[in-house]
Amino acid sequence: MKVVLITGASSGLGAEFARQLDKEVSGIDEFWLVARRKERMEELAQELTHPARIFANDVRNRSLYECLEWQLNEECADIKILVNNAGCGFNGFVTEQSSEKLIDVLDINCTAMTAITTLCIPFMKRGAHIIHMASSAAYLPQPGFAAYAASKSYVLNFSRALGEELRSRGIYVTAVCPGPVETEFLKKSGAEKSSYGLKKYVRMEAKDVVAEAIRGAKRKQTVVTPGLAMKGFRLLTKVVPHEVILKVMRKL
Ligand SMILES: NC(=O)c1ccc[n+]([C@@H]2O[C@H](COP(=O)([O-])OP(=O)(O)OC[C@H]3O[C@@H](n4cnc5c(N)ncnc54)[C@H](OP(=O)(O)O)[C@@H]3O)[C@@H](O)[C@H]2O)c1
Repeated sequence: MKVVLITGASSGLGAEFARQLDKEVSGIDEFWLVARRKERMEELAQELTHPARIFANDVRNRSLYECLEWQLNEECADIKILVNNAGCGFNGFVTEQSSEKLIDVLDINCTAMTAITTLCIPFMKRGAHIIHMASSAAYLPQPGFAAYAASKSYVLNFSRALGEELRSRGIYVTAVCPGPVETEFLKKSGAEKSSYGLKKYVRMEAKDVVAEAIRGAKRKQTVVTPGLAMKGFRLLTKVVPHEVILKVMRKL
């Protein structure tokens, strides 16, 4: 059975990946959708032309990994596209946040993403693709969003290294690094109130971010930075020392 597997499919970018890939892909038997909000995924499944299988579970739960692995084996699954998109972040200084919240960010964005990726690779063949949802926050340490930005640096660098490791097997890995996107994330993370969220002029729509991500993945790009503003930001973080950028940001 040929499968597209998407985590964080109940809203925002994950749901948009499902909608756009549903139209783009051919020869796929099922879309497998993972997130906690079952009803949201059931509604999304109604919109899709492909049959969808719903895994309503927390990406941190071992029971999810066991269930996925069992069903992948049972169906002799061939994962054509894995979109590792589930993620969260909480705005605020490290000293003002509970350690539970900070650890949640690492568990969801890094540990669960790593667990799901390694679980899926044995079910991938030449030509398969992994898309990791990182963030442009990965490009620079972000005071006020420290754990989130650091977690996305992990996603970005893990993704780039994994892409090199899998290249000879013909499995391609793309990290997507958007700036602020109009999704529930901005509100849930509190980023709407921060400088990250306030930059209204750089905010993108989920459909545009996903379209650019899919175009980049098709071109086998290792990193996709959607939008001109964030491409400029990426360049800046490559040529100007981070200490200088952080000093300017502090003054602003
Ligand atoms: N929006 C932005 O500004 C922005 C910018 C750069 C990168 N990103 C990244 O893009 C990805 C998608 O975010 P979004 O903007 O689409 O926000 P969103 O609408 O809040 O979507 C987050 C998705 O992750 C799922 N999720 C979160 N925690 C989970 C858990 N413990 N177990 C299972 N699923 C979980 C959520 O599903 P349930 O709540 O139903 O479980 C939801 O489907 C994230 O990795 C985020 O870091 C977002």
